Amino acid sequence: MSRFSEPQDPLFQALNSSISFDFRLAPYDLAQSLAHARMLCHSKIIGADDLAEIERGLAQIRAEVDEDRFEIKPDDEDVHMAIERRLTEIVGDAGARLHTARSRNDQVATDVAMLVRAHSLTGIQHLKRLMGTLVEVAEAHLDWPMPGYTHLQRAQPVYLSHHLLAYFWKFRRDLQRFNFCLTATDDLPLGAGALAGVNFDTSRMFVAQELGFAGISENSLDAVSNRDFVLDYLSAAATCATHLSQLGAEIVLWSSEEFGFCEVADRFASGSSLMPQKKNPDAAELLRAKAPRVTGRLVTLHGVLHGLPLTYNKDLQEDKEQLFDAIDTVELCLEVANEMLATIAFDRERLAGAASDEFLAATDVADLLVKRGIPFREAHGVVAGVVRGAVERGKTLSELTQEELGELAPDLDSEYYELLREGAWLESKVSEGGTALARVRDQLGQARHILEEG
Ligand code: ARG
Repeated sequence: MSRFSEPQDPLFQALNSSISFDFRLAPYDLAQSLAHARMLCHSKIIGADDLAEIERGLAQIRAEVDEDRFEIKPDDEDVHMAIERRLTEIVGDAGARLHTARSRNDQVATDVAMLVRAHSLTGIQHLKRLMGTLVEVAEAHLDWPMPGYTHLQRAQPVYLSHHLLAYFWKFRRDLQRFNFCLTATDDLPLGAGALAGVNFDTSRMFVAQELGFAGISENSLDAVSNRDFVLDYLSAAATCATHLSQLGAEIVLWSSEEFGFCEVADRFASGSSLMPQKKNPDAAELLRAKAPRVTGRLVTLHGVLHGLPLTYNKDLQEDKEQLFDAIDTVELCLEVANEMLATIAFDRERLAGAASDEFLAATDVADLLVKRGIPFREAHGVVAGVVRGAVERGKTLSELTQEELGELAPDLDSEYYELLREGAWLESKVSEGGTALARVRDQLGQARHILEEG
């Protein structure tokens, strides 16, 4: 019997069906069904013979899924119905008993939480590998000077190692964000039923333990309407993709003829169909371009959830495509970034040439005056005048004659020329977190410690 007097309209089916994308949840749905069936038997809601049959059927379906020969039927609206339909085909009545004390509402929330947990762990693994590569590449280029930039204008020189390690800390925070997603998926939704709980004395902790959840959700209404863990994953993924896009953008710039700071390995570049000389850093460009897509997934889900009355609404089905696409995008980008960085070649001379621009020492000249008791704001003005004087004369700072210098800045003397000659503007950055080699070595030590800690 059916509640309905006519079959579903094919147009409605096209809109409503989620099997084309949610079949990806099958491994989690199978694991969950197994745990649920065991609990039903443990709680004496089904018999041991039924459990044995369900176990046999689920094992067979698992093999069909693993070997890619599970057959989806036209009436299978979603992965949950497809698996239940197949189970009943294989084991009959026992299969039809599986859905006792369970609803697709708590079922789907559980599957998605399990998937988020698994992919948060994958994200953490990928990030650890990338952070390890950053440490290695930084170590290999420990004392290579390069310009540091603000506003994409040369600002102060830094070591390439210091610049690369900046990304280590960004990715470390991403790792912490993915770690938080593990906490966000600690509570098992299953057992909440459709929304209000179920009419059986089930043991939710039994299922939680079988599936590796730390505890159970305390409120059945919250359990079936909660998608916070998807938002948390998407948020972590969006921030991570944004960091990858910044890295990608820098590699694109640095690979240009104008910068000439680095060259990506051939296997991460492509040629032009027209211009034979071209080698394009496409991988880095795509890292740059993918971030808004992931952020879009986050914004979309916020849109879906906002204003949604409790509890389950079909709107919630829209979480999956957002989540799956973000997972696929960010995981691929993380792997590409790691390989691309591991194989990139930096050009020491080009970097050093750009870093030896004397104007990068302007702050150091100002600090020379500060050390003599002149207030920084005033010293800043004096040196700005010297820079301007040099630019107007078409000279570098050290090319200014003593006479010219005397006119521009009477307080500056031979120490000025010494400072410029020594070129020690990196090693003077001795403050904690600064670019002086000793500080970068400390930083590397910290980074290694974090990686070893796991
Ligand atoms: N495919 C559905 C989803 O992804 C499963 C839950 C269906 N529940 C319902 N009450 N129709 O959200």
